[in-house]
Amino acid sequence: MTPNEQTPNDQVTTTESATTPASAPDKSAGHSRRVFLFKLSLLVNGAVGAVLAVPILGYLLGPALKKSSSDNSWINLGPLNDFPEGETRLVNFRNPVTTSWDGQTGDIPCWVRRVSGNTFQVFAINCAHLGCPVRWFAQSKLFMCPCHGGAYYEDGSRASGPPERGLFEYEYKIVSGSLVISAGKMPTLANQAKSESPLIQLEGTSAATETLPKPRCSSCQS
Ligand code: FES
Repeated sequence: MTPNEQTPNDQVTTTESATTPASAPDKSAGHSRRVFLFKLSLLVNGAVGAVLAVPILGYLLGPALKKSSSDNSWINLGPLNDFPEGETRLVNFRNPVTTSWDGQTGDIPCWVRRVSGNTFQVFAINCAHLGCPVRWFAQSKLFMCPCHGGAYYEDGSRASGPPERGLFEYEYKIVSGSLVISAGKMPTLANQAKSESPLIQLEGTSAATETLPKPRCSSCQS
């Protein structure tokens, strides 16, 4: 066989050797493309995670962040002239811890009783039993709950029915001739437990008779 004659195997070898230098750059380009796509996916996932984390963190941290600003929220219910002495009136105020998209659910009603002069009682509208809104009946001078028949006297103390205590009250003060209530914190049993005795005493305790609710009707007071 002369030097110019080539077998088929020789041709394959020649072809492979010719293509080897070209495949090296292809592998390198493929590797760098994978690295680029990997980094891009990390970047996209990070951005999506950050976007999703904002509302979640806002939901979790929102109450704690609002607490300091709302705890001392005093709401003006109006000038004293709006509340005649001896009368009880329904007043709506805006919840100080509400958000702009809460709409009407951010409006809170309460019952304002002007006892005399600068002495008031501001009652939460919710029944102390299960929270139904109580209504004031001026003729009978009773707050009545439509849900289970709970009744309260005009000073908010329990009269009858399932509630085990009187209505919850807001703290209030008079500022520049207006009635202002502390609306940043809900009126709760914990707020009033210091000043009010429980209605029910355990059997055998010395205060059992002293803590029974006092009768309010004239025929019961004898
Ligand atoms: Fe008022 Fe039950 S919710 S009596």
